[in-house]
Amino acid sequence: MRQKRKLDHLNLARFVKDGPGSSGFEDVSFIHNCLPELDSSRISTATSFLGRKFAAPLMINAVSGGVKEAEVLNRIFARVSRKLEIPMAVGSQTAALEHPALRYTYSVAREENPEGFLVANISAGAAVEQALEAVQMIGADALQLHLNAPQEIFMPGNEKETSFGGFLANIAEVAGASPVPVIIKEVGFGMAREQAKLLVKAGAAALDVGGSGGTNFIRIEGLRGKNKMYQPFLKWGLSSAIALGEMAEEYFPGVQLVATGGIRHGLDAAKALALGASMVGMAGPLVRCYYKGGETEVENFLVSIKQQLQRTMFILGALEPARLSSLPLVIRGETGRWLELRGVDLHGLAVRSADQ
Ligand SMILES: Cc1cc2nc3c(=O)[nH]c(=O)nc-3n(C[C@H](O)[C@H](O)[C@H](O)COP(=O)(O)O)c2cc1C
Repeated sequence: MRQKRKLDHLNLARFVKDGPGSSGFEDVSFIHNCLPELDSSRISTATSFLGRKFAAPLMINAVSGGVKEAEVLNRIFARVSRKLEIPMAVGSQTAALEHPALRYTYSVAREENPEGFLVANISAGAAVEQALEAVQMIGADALQLHLNAPQEIFMPGNEKETSFGGFLANIAEVAGASPVPVIIKEVGFGMAREQAKLLVKAGAAALDVGGSGGTNFIRIEGLRGKNKMYQPFLKWGLSSAIALGEMAEEYFPGVQLVATGGIRHGLDAAKALALGASMVGMAGPLVRCYYKGGETEVENFLVSIKQQLQRTMFILGALEPARLSSLPLVIRGETGRWLELRGVDLHGLAVRSADQ
């Protein structure tokens, strides 16, 4: 049952388009700098995240495991993450906890990238022992706990009962026991400031805002089912740009943000970094690259995102990714209106300056 679902997810992610909502970055504009005053050769995308250094603020986010196909996929993703010196998360490890024979579909990532930064993944409702086993299974450097209530309630078979009670207390318990930093992660419906505060208090070292506009798990589960109940919900959630903007007014000392959800090129990656993210994750496009052209296609896609990010940094005169978060940003349209209503100081963002 779980294996069939995992395969359905891969096949649907391969063919189903992003959205239908947008990730919101078209509402976010940099202010062109006609005097960047630097040479492109001096630009470095090197960054640090959760205490480790990476060649770029790009991450291969959680996709798969627990099915035979995932062995190849995780091997390829791990090889690319090693070559590009970026972090990688495996997909939810529940399948291997239930069926130890499937552990290899995840642990191959460690074989391919022995020194790399690998992230374990499990539901935020999983017990402490399960979370620790997931970390141990791949020798993980961090642990993602995923939150996916909209996906679960639209999952065929879950209509009668879907349990999400006690998650916050559970997260605090797991974070307290985890030997590695814990990342709390949405899977494409975004995260609002109110819950972010609670998650930070519960011990999150990083929050992956996992906004809407990219892979849509209400649609994926809806297509797996037999009725059309899901259709009015297709635009559910906070877009990635809105979710990041929601956090802009908060200062969570020591907590880093990851931006995932509908980020498909390096200009949007730069905007996500400017909105406060330390890392930009991608999932759906990497699955499509894998099916289209295997390892080369996955690598080329990520390299092109990095090059687009470098070009954006050059035009804006930003020597390093962290510099982007002090550049002025103009936020308009639906994203601007939302953030204004939520009390974000858009004027402050539009006139902020690195020199202040
Ligand atoms: C086929 C597929 C399987 C996924 N499985 C998981 C998973 O097991 N655990 C998880 O936390 N997120 C999972 N995700 C969600 C992604 O990590 C990511 O948060 C989401 O797809 C939004 O990013 P995107 O728009 O770049 O795809 C999966 C995504 C895809 C496409």
